Amino acid sequence: MGKTIVIQPVSRIEGHAKVEIQLDDTGNVADTRVRVVELRGFERFCIGRPVEELPRIVTSICGVCPWSHHLASAKATDAVFGVEPPPAGRRLRDLCNSIAYTEEHILHFYFLSGPDFVMGPDADYSVRNVIGIAQSNPEIGKRVVRNRHLGAQMLEVVSGKPIHPVTAVPGGFSKPLTEKERDELCPMAEEVLEFAKFSMAFAKESIFPKYLDTVKVLGVINTGFMGTVTDDGALNLYDGKLRLMKPDGSFEDFHYDRYTEYISERVQEWTYQKFPYAKGWGEGFSMDPDNPKGVYRVNSLARINVADKISTPLAQREFEEFKEQFGSPAQLTLLYHWARLIELLYNAEHVVELLDDADITSKETRVAVTPRAARGVGCAEAPRGSLIHDYETDDKGLVTDVNLIVATQHNNAPINMSVNQAARALIKDGDYDQGILNMVEMAIRAYDPCLSCATHDLAGRIAVRVDILDVKGNLKDTFQN
Ligand code: MG
Ligand code: NI
Repeated sequence: MGKTIVIQPVSRIEGHAKVEIQLDDTGNVADTRVRVVELRGFERFCIGRPVEELPRIVTSICGVCPWSHHLASAKATDAVFGVEPPPAGRRLRDLCNSIAYTEEHILHFYFLSGPDFVMGPDADYSVRNVIGIAQSNPEIGKRVVRNRHLGAQMLEVVSGKPIHPVTAVPGGFSKPLTEKERDELCPMAEEVLEFAKFSMAFAKESIFPKYLDTVKVLGVINTGFMGTVTDDGALNLYDGKLRLMKPDGSFEDFHYDRYTEYISERVQEWTYQKFPYAKGWGEGFSMDPDNPKGVYRVNSLARINVADKISTPLAQREFEEFKEQFGSPAQLTLLYHWARLIELLYNAEHVVELLDDADITSKETRVAVTPRAARGVGCAEAPRGSLIHDYETDDKGLVTDVNLIVATQHNNAPINMSVNQAARALIKDGDYDQGILNMVEMAIRAYDPCLSCATHDLAGRIAVRVDILDVKGNLKDTFQN
């Protein structure tokens, strides 16, 4: 075998990964692997806890996505206790979800993926970063920081703290919103909406047109898609039914508490991440980029693909234009960025709309709950895709079993396939440089993975391996359990 190219760490993603590209004797790509080199394990250590504590415990899974875990968990506890939160409780959860989305989509577009497009894919890595962005566009840089800060401030007003929240509880939301707080939030929400409009226009004028050729080829694969929609098919990020779409655009809708009938998970010995696949399609599972089986994608592009419409006017206009230009389902991987900006606009509009809702300041935000033996499934659309929390309790309300399918896990197979496609297309006869390796990373960044969130298997099926290297990087010893 020829040389192995290692990209480690993959930069400008959440969490830690390395990419290995194995070349054959002629210098062409024989195989690739995206390895996730961290382990979380919450599926094990939530067991034995009172289930009402879980919405608070699971926020520690991730400092980037705490709101998504908090809300999916609160919904799972609603189901365990068999209760439905009152309208104000639902709206306050939905409001926090959309505020957190604006913050995270702004972070990803400008700071994580932006340097590739603003500075260029093959710009020197000393400037291809957030500092480079701030130096080349100081005015935009300031607005990005300001608008992320506004998101954090708004979450603090609604729930007391912006990260690791505690306010979504079984049966609703613990803190009603006062009229005074609502009045404080409205101008902030309007300012974020202005920035969302600016971001969409800026990308359509100055970024996307320059990269349309790259979009057509980089990391392109052909898969199915999954996301949440309301009963009438509109995009929804807090609640609804899951829609699982085949590559040909045909789809099936199901309530998320039936997810095990549609999705199964595979384990591979070389990574801590599991590989969910659509078992309902009956074709098994294969990550061969030329002939995938059972593979579907989640996150922004998937949600735009599965939805029939968006309920807010500005995002709906962008949605129509996107469908017109790229068809449905759109398969080009870099279109995740475009879809993410449509969602930024939707969330910014939705926050303004929710603050205007008469129910939002009602004092009736939660209902009482009583422990019982039950199973409950909660699902919310995290910025990175459909997030499933599945709990079981005994008659004292203590947790006996937990399964999490974290958003990025659904995209595990697609990310591996896109990296393989990109590496094979870009590395020929042993020829590559920093720019080419960064393009391989760009195929990963499009998916905005959160790997810190997404590794929970501790059932002893995956070995822990420790490699000991000398100062020159030569392998000296290996331990494996
Ligand atoms: Mg799991
Ligand atoms: Ni996360």
